[in-house]
Amino acid sequence: MEKGFYIATMGCQMNEYDSEFLGLQLMEYGYTPVDDPENADVVLINTCTVREKADQKAMSLLGRLSRIKAKKGEGMVLGVAGCLAQKQGKRLFHRFPELDLVVGPRELTEIRGILNAVLFQKRKMIATRLDLPPLNASKTTHQLQESQICAYVSVMQGCDNFCTYCIVPYVRGREISRSPQDILEEASFLVGQGVKEITLLGQNVNSYSWKDSSKSYNFASLLHMLSEVDGLLRLRFTTSHPKDLSDDLIRSFKDNQILCPHIHLPFQTGSNDILQRMKRGYTREHYMELVYKLRDMVPHLAITSDVMVGFPGESAGDFEQTLDLMEKIRFDTLFSFKYSDREGTVAAYMDGKIGEGEKSRRLNRLQTLQKEITLQKNMELEGKMVAVLVEGESKKGGQLMGRTNTNKIVNLSSNKGLIGDIINVIIKKAFVNSLLAE
Ligand code: SAH
Ligand code: SF4
Ligand code: F3S
Repeated sequence: MEKGFYIATMGCQMNEYDSEFLGLQLMEYGYTPVDDPENADVVLINTCTVREKADQKAMSLLGRLSRIKAKKGEGMVLGVAGCLAQKQGKRLFHRFPELDLVVGPRELTEIRGILNAVLFQKRKMIATRLDLPPLNASKTTHQLQESQICAYVSVMQGCDNFCTYCIVPYVRGREISRSPQDILEEASFLVGQGVKEITLLGQNVNSYSWKDSSKSYNFASLLHMLSEVDGLLRLRFTTSHPKDLSDDLIRSFKDNQILCPHIHLPFQTGSNDILQRMKRGYTREHYMELVYKLRDMVPHLAITSDVMVGFPGESAGDFEQTLDLMEKIRFDTLFSFKYSDREGTVAAYMDGKIGEGEKSRRLNRLQTLQKEITLQKNMELEGKMVAVLVEGESKKGGQLMGRTNTNKIVNLSSNKGLIGDIINVIIKKAFVNSLLAE
C-alpha cells in the first residue's frame, strides 16, 4: 500500500517554499500527499516563531497531532520542522513525548536520512545546525503536483541584520545566497511546467550577492537574468530592507520588462527614536525619500509594508509619528502587528514594556486608518482597465481569481480557459481586500 504524508505550514512565504521542498523530498522517497493527518504515515508541522501568537498556534496543533499519534502508535511518524523547531530544539521532546523528529529550517535537505533513522533505527532525531548550504530545489526534478500559475523561488537564506525585536537571524542563521545558475535552473524548470509568475524570496533580497570567476551579481542583475526566461510573464520579490535599497534595484522597476510594479518595504515605525532602538539603520526621512524616488521612477508603483505597535518605550507621541507616516505615504496595504518579546533578542530585555490593552488600542486605531486608505486607493481603480493574470478558481464558487501587477486580488466571471493568461478587465467595484471585475 502507498504511504502518505501530510505537512501543515505556518508562517511566512519562506516556510511555504520550504514545505514544498519537504513535500518533493518525501515524494522522491515514495510517499504521496494526503489531505487528512489521520491517514498519513508521516506528519510534519512546519512552524513559525516570529511572534508569540505563532508559538501558541504551533504548540496547540502539536498537541492535537500528538493525540492522533498516541492513538495510532508506531504507524505514524510525527515531526516538527521550521523556526520554532530550531528555537526549541530538544525541549520539544520533553513537552511532546509523542514527537519523533525536530528539524530546523537549514537542515531540511537532510530530511530523508533523518526519516530513515526514525523508521529503521527507531531513534528520535534532532537536526538544528545552521551553518549549512542553502536548500537547492533545482536538484529535484519531480513534476509539480497540480498545474500552478505562480511559484516561489528562494534566492537567499538567513539574515544578518539583527533588528533588536527579531528572532529570525537566530533561527534561520547567517545570510547565504544561492548561485544564479541554480536559481535560473529552478525558475526555468518551473516555467517549463506551466508557471507564469515567480516570486523571489529572501529575508532581505537586496543583500543578494554572488561572485564567480567570470562575473559578480547583485539582486538587480539577478532580476535581469531571470527576465530572459522564455515564457515567464511576471517577476516579483519579497522582502527588501530600506537600508539596502539600491538605485540599481529602483531602476529595475523601469528597465525590467516583467518586474511587477510593487514593492514590499517594511518600515516598522514612524518614530526615529524607536527606529534607532530597533536598530533598523534608517530614519523616517530616509524612508520617505526612498518612497519618493520609487514613485518618481514608476508613478503607479504599489507600496506595501510591515509595521508594529507597542515596541518597548513607544510613547503616545511615537505612535502618532507612525500614523503620520502612514498618512503621508498612503500604503496600498499594510501588515500590522503588536510587538511581542522573543526569547534571546535585545528588545526582550528593554525597559518600558507596553501593556496588552494599550497595544490593542493602538493596533485598532492604526488598522482603522489603513482600512480607509486601502479602500480609497482601491476605489481609484473603479471604472479603470487593469491587466490581470488569471491564477485559478476563486474561493467563492463560480468565479475566477487573479491579480493585478500591483498585487491586488481581482475576482471575475469568465471561463476557465483563461487560467494562466494575462487579460484586460474593467474594475466594477472595489473592496478593502479585493476588486470585482466585469
Ligand atoms: N525580513 C523581513 C521581515 C521578517 S518578519 C523584513 O525585515 O522586512 C515579518 C514581520 O514581522 C516584520 O517585518 C515585523 O513587522 C514583524 N515582527 C518581527 N518580529 C516581531 C516581534 N517580536 N513582535 C511583533 N512583530 C514582529
Ligand atoms: Fe528580522 Fe530585521 Fe532580519 Fe527582517 S531584517 S528578518 S526584521 S532581523
Ligand atoms: Fe516565521 Fe521563520 Fe518566517 S520565524 S516569519 S517562519 S522566517
